[in-house]
Amino acid sequence: GPTLYLQPGDRLQVRLANDLDAPTNLHVHGLHVSPLDNGDNVFVVVEPGESFDYDYRLPADHPPGAYWYHPHHHGMVADQVFGGLYGAIVVGDPEPVAVARERVLVISDLTLDGSGRVASPSEMARMAGREGERVLINGQSRPVLTARPGERERWRIVNACSARYVRLRLDGQQLQLLGVDSGRYPEPRDVNEIVLATGNRADLLVTAAEGSSVLESLPYDRGGMGDMMGGGSTSSGGGAIALATLDVAGAAVAALPPVAAQPAPRDLRGLTVAGRRELTFAMGMGMGMGGGMQATIDGKVFDPGRVDQAVRLGTVEEWTLTNASSMDHPVHLHVWPMQVIAEGNQPLDDVTLRDVVNIPPGGRVTVRVAFDRYPGRTVYHCHILDHEDNGMMGVLTAT
Ligand code: C2O
Ligand code: CU
Ligand code: CU
Repeated sequence: GPTLYLQPGDRLQVRLANDLDAPTNLHVHGLHVSPLDNGDNVFVVVEPGESFDYDYRLPADHPPGAYWYHPHHHGMVADQVFGGLYGAIVVGDPEPVAVARERVLVISDLTLDGSGRVASPSEMARMAGREGERVLINGQSRPVLTARPGERERWRIVNACSARYVRLRLDGQQLQLLGVDSGRYPEPRDVNEIVLATGNRADLLVTAAEGSSVLESLPYDRGGMGDMMGGGSTSSGGGAIALATLDVAGAAVAALPPVAAQPAPRDLRGLTVAGRRELTFAMGMGMGMGGGMQATIDGKVFDPGRVDQAVRLGTVEEWTLTNASSMDHPVHLHVWPMQVIAEGNQPLDDVTLRDVVNIPPGGRVTVRVAFDRYPGRTVYHCHILDHEDNGMMGVLTAT
């Protein structure tokens, strides 16, 4: 899909016309906008042949950064995203960062069958979360990017894969991370690699050095089904995957001045906590009809008619996210960013904002959320989209 460029304070109106033969809808992942009515409302169902007008109003203080959009009709999200329905959203900086150019790199994966159609995954792949055989950048296989020595570029990288995690490297080039999701670091951080779970975005500065470098995704082990189902594994194993080539040649350009410091984000650790909750993510054999694998939160599969968490608007809560399974679950909350305050027993020093937070097998991550501004009903879920379609999603109301 097209990249949507917005500024804080903008109003975005989108008509979604459903030419599929299945129901669908639209979600603006990571945007801090209302979940009511024709806002970021994932309970809307747009039937085949119908259309729906979405209307999103970004607040004037909306965090700049990279976001994205994709369908969110429960039960079909993985099929539709894996089939190519997604696009990037860029919310510009009030004070632009000086760069020679900006690029949007949307990473996706897919598997094609013998006739060139998107292949349906096996049951096993659905349980683990499907990973495509091909990993693409903006729908292209191994594009070549060019720059001149000394040029500073800004790369907005979106992991739009349905389940695949990417561990990115671009050896030979200078990388500085401005932030991840809507979280911006006060100063850019020098990095060698970046791990993005499905749904995460990186906002990256690349200062080009002469030569040719390969943007690679290294293997990431996100666990497997353990003893269940014969140990179906998640396949981010194997070797490094080349995603793109950056060729840097020509006359060198003068270096740009360092990036100005960003305003320090609010730290929720200084605030009163109105509620503490513990959420447990698990995979198990269902007891009910069919008895297949179920992906659950607190032992329950998604029910749009149930409210799982009722929060008070204007309060800060602390949630402990626990993973009782043998594979990673990247936990996503709509509308409000999460501040990660501890990983296991290890408190974090800095202010780390994410809208997708990875919980490793057997692990536990503590986050705080300020439920401000927007009343309504929305969801939180595992962003391995097959898990979400399998039931690993809950309903939250803010009143
Ligand atoms: Cu990227 Cu609830 O989604
Ligand atoms: Cu989302
Ligand atoms: Cu999951």
